[in-house]
Amino acid sequence: LASVEVDLAPVAVGQAIKLNWRGKPVFVRNLTPVEIAEANKVPVSDLRDPQTLAERTKEGKANWLITLGVCTHLGCVPLGAAEGENRGDYGGYFCPCHGSHYDTAARIRKGPAPTNLEVPEYAFMSDTRVQIG
Ligand code: FES
Repeated sequence: LASVEVDLAPVAVGQAIKLNWRGKPVFVRNLTPVEIAEANKVPVSDLRDPQTLAERTKEGKANWLITLGVCTHLGCVPLGAAEGENRGDYGGYFCPCHGSHYDTAARIRKGPAPTNLEVPEYAFMSDTRVQIG
């Protein structure tokens, strides 16, 4: 199946974009230092699906959070990857279908979703290019 290459250069700090890969939405987000700190200060034992931000990003690239844009409850597309959208109570993504709130590492924090937003296979081709898939 096809992979997709993404140019990260236009994605400003604090911004997220949504693209399509294998018929699914993918969110690519450039986390701010504050958002990274928020994700890192959460005790992993408090999480429903315990994972650190470091486990969900590539080494040295903790600001680039790449996940599927598919709620792990029943598959709606969460909000938060476009300008001005509701990012929920934890500043990450918010699924309006049944109220799942994801944090700045796209980990489930509140609502019915059982697991974090899925991180797809991807690799950095350079500092500003990523290949997903
Ligand atoms: Fe997202 Fe139900 S599909 S909360």
